[in-house]
Amino acid sequence: MDFKNRTAFVTGASVGIGRATALKFAGLGANLVLMDLNRENAESLLDELKNYDIDVMFAQGDISDEECINKIVKEALERFGRIDILVNNAALWRSFGDFLEISVETWKRIIDVNIMGTVYPIRAILPSMLENNYGRIINVTSVAGVYGNAKMVHYSTTKGAINTLTKALAKEVSDKNILVNSICPGSVSPSDNFDVNYTQPSELSFMGRTGSDMENANLIAFLASDEASYIAGQNIQIDGCRKKQ
Ligand SMILES: NC(=O)c1ccc[n+]([C@@H]2O[C@H](COP(=O)([O-])OP(=O)(O)OC[C@H]3O[C@@H](n4cnc5c(N)ncnc54)[C@H](O)[C@@H]3O)[C@@H](O)[C@H]2O)c1
Repeated sequence: MDFKNRTAFVTGASVGIGRATALKFAGLGANLVLMDLNRENAESLLDELKNYDIDVMFAQGDISDEECINKIVKEALERFGRIDILVNNAALWRSFGDFLEISVETWKRIIDVNIMGTVYPIRAILPSMLENNYGRIINVTSVAGVYGNAKMVHYSTTKGAINTLTKALAKEVSDKNILVNSICPGSVSPSDNFDVNYTQPSELSFMGRTGSDMENANLIAFLASDEASYIAGQNIQIDGCRKKQ
């Protein structure tokens, strides 16, 4: 896989799967546009990325703010000329409770971040992908959006919505060489652990362990590559053979 002369835009890049994805792309030669609400957590990543011969732009911002996304995308297009790959990774997921305990405010916030925070970057970047007749869009969802997780009805709903968005949008743009897919991780190791290969025991998978951030990044990179040129509209589970659905 070779991403030289390609530019990848990754949301939620400061930690976890987003951070591993940035490192994976950097190793394969892609220029990077990284965005996150949290700049402080990105500092060590930005230091590490200095070891690569690539151009990196970091933008602090909120994916649920359309104006902010449009501004960052405009700046990125001015600087890099094109965005080839969009990884919609940032989301809210640490929110648990019985259905009736989840407030309407919490529902609205999670819908804004997880659904509209995926829609806004696509709306901002897709026109230039259409002009270039090239694009890869990878949405990071969850097995919760496939099976539905108890105590996470709101989160599951948003991830299911993005899995459906993925399939529907792929049908509109696949013939323009814009391939849209989602990856649906099972349990992933804690995103505040900066070892991208770290895993820990988990009873939720037949493999008996969580997935690492880099295992997820590897799948994202494959879907973003030219090697994955006949894959579109798919929700691909990466879950170590999940036990409980
Ligand atoms: N970690 C898991 O076990 C797991 C499992 C299944 C799916 N996922 C999905 O993987 C993705 C990444 O999760 P993770 O656990 O690696 O990282 P994380 O959730 O710990 O961190 C995500 C990053 O996104 C940023 N972010 C959050 N809200 C944002 C916003 N409104 N605007 C911009 N940035 C924002 C955070 O600051 C953080 O740096 C998410 O979409 C999550 O739903 C994670």
